[in-house]
Amino acid sequence: MDGECDLVVFGAAGDLSGRKLFPALFQLHCAGLLAPQSRIVALARRPQTQETFANDLLERLGGLAESADEQWSSFTERLHYCCLDFNDGKQYALLRTLLKPGRRAIYYLATPPSLFGAICEKLSAQQLIDEYSRVVLEKPIGQDLASCRAVNETVGRLVAEENIYRIDHYLGKETVQNLLVLRFANRFINTQWDQSCIDHIQITVAETVGIEGRWSYYNEVGQLRDMVQNHLVQLLCLVAMEPPNAMTAESIRDEKVKILRALRRIDAASVSAHAVRGQYAQGWYRGSAVPGYLEEEDCTVGDSDTETFVAIKAHIDNWRWAGVPFYLRTGKRLPEKLTEIVITYKSLPHNIFSAGDNIPNRLVIRLQPNEGIAMQMVSKLHSLKNKMALVRQNLNLDFLGSSGMSRIPDAYERLFLDVINGDPSLFVGREEVEEAWQWCDALIAAWDAQAMPVSPYHAGSWGPAKAELLIERDGRSWHE
Ligand SMILES: NC(=O)c1ccc[n+]([C@@H]2O[C@H](COP(=O)([O-])OP(=O)(O)OC[C@H]3O[C@@H](n4cnc5c(N)ncnc54)[C@H](OP(=O)(O)O)[C@@H]3O)[C@@H](O)[C@H]2O)c1
Repeated sequence: MDGECDLVVFGAAGDLSGRKLFPALFQLHCAGLLAPQSRIVALARRPQTQETFANDLLERLGGLAESADEQWSSFTERLHYCCLDFNDGKQYALLRTLLKPGRRAIYYLATPPSLFGAICEKLSAQQLIDEYSRVVLEKPIGQDLASCRAVNETVGRLVAEENIYRIDHYLGKETVQNLLVLRFANRFINTQWDQSCIDHIQITVAETVGIEGRWSYYNEVGQLRDMVQNHLVQLLCLVAMEPPNAMTAESIRDEKVKILRALRRIDAASVSAHAVRGQYAQGWYRGSAVPGYLEEEDCTVGDSDTETFVAIKAHIDNWRWAGVPFYLRTGKRLPEKLTEIVITYKSLPHNIFSAGDNIPNRLVIRLQPNEGIAMQMVSKLHSLKNKMALVRQNLNLDFLGSSGMSRIPDAYERLFLDVINGDPSLFVGREEVEEAWQWCDALIAAWDAQAMPVSPYHAGSWGPAKAELLIERDGRSWHE
């Protein structure tokens, strides 16, 4: 079988589909990267015609499709809309009539995880899953270890592990793949990547938005489960793992699992010194007043202890990383939309330049905005007055500029292509996702045991004061 497939999107009318999945599929179509005979079957609960669905989609794609009239019309020829209640097994017979026998089916489940098992059972009951079928599961897989295992077991009974693609879209970002190249294709980086050279590592995923119409869902979940368990933990694994022996899914996953097992559990005794939870209160963003978490339009309760901000000081108990803290921080309604990994090297043992500080090198890996990598070097300030003043300057890797492309492809484009081509190396394995939940569950249990309340922070600030203290206690500060 070549790349020809029937791509079935469950939850096609949802937010993720409109903002990410269909734009990515359209871009792949425009770039000629979808096989000519491949079809896209869009499944959603709403009764509507194919035409209404396509028009609605066109509106959601906005400028992307309008500037490519012809492409849009050929894209809609691939598109088949079908109204289906995912919980009603009988309706799956309709889906069967839409799929071409003998062609690979790829089922993309852009639905709440509580539906993953049920959908696979119903597909299987209609003999719609065979050895060639692939199933893509959106994050999060469950809400804790127990629910994650339940999903993995149900889906795993019906679909072989090598055909299950668990998405963490951060892994599809160009810069994240570049992190692997940077680490494993550059000798000088590779040999300086451990506790002997590195002082500490920071990973920040900051959002400026609040909850955006997902309040009830989010209030049950919180920032730790929504962002840390998957995105931040995955980034930490890629930064910290040993070199895999090949770029295969199995090798990469094995190395990531070793890191997750070495990630020190935060327990009730250590939680107050290692983890901060916050919740945004009213504040300001770019000159406009913004509401607090409990004043958001769709807030349904008078009070809530759900965290919208988390800062963690994590440790990896292995030879390479002994004594190197990993500071993780993520939150809503922060001042900037920013995802970056900052590696701070140790200062030199002795400073011979009396006119300057002993400035450590920093490697900044920026996933958004302006994807790129900068090595902060120390050099001399050009000056006659100050003979040997030192300044920090950047050696920049600018991805967009050097690629010759007009835009950096979205993560979902990469990941769709990899699913179609059967390359699971940028997807998350079962053991990984379960280990990550185990670590998060321990942290949540520690918070519960200490009845640790959320600390308020003003919307538009970098989180509660306790998050500053978490790092300042160690004589360090967050990278601004
Ligand atoms: N949105 C994001 O940016 C994002 C990012 C990463 C991961 N995710 C994850 O991806 C999944 C989907 O997210 P989303 O934001 O797109 O959610 P959403 O907007 O609520 O979309 C879910 C879709 O599933 C449909 N659905 C739910 N139950 C159904 C049923 N029994 N039968 C038929 N259709 C059903 C809903 O149909 P109705 O419209 O009829 O209710 C809706 O269209 C979630 O697990 C989410 O955590 C989302």
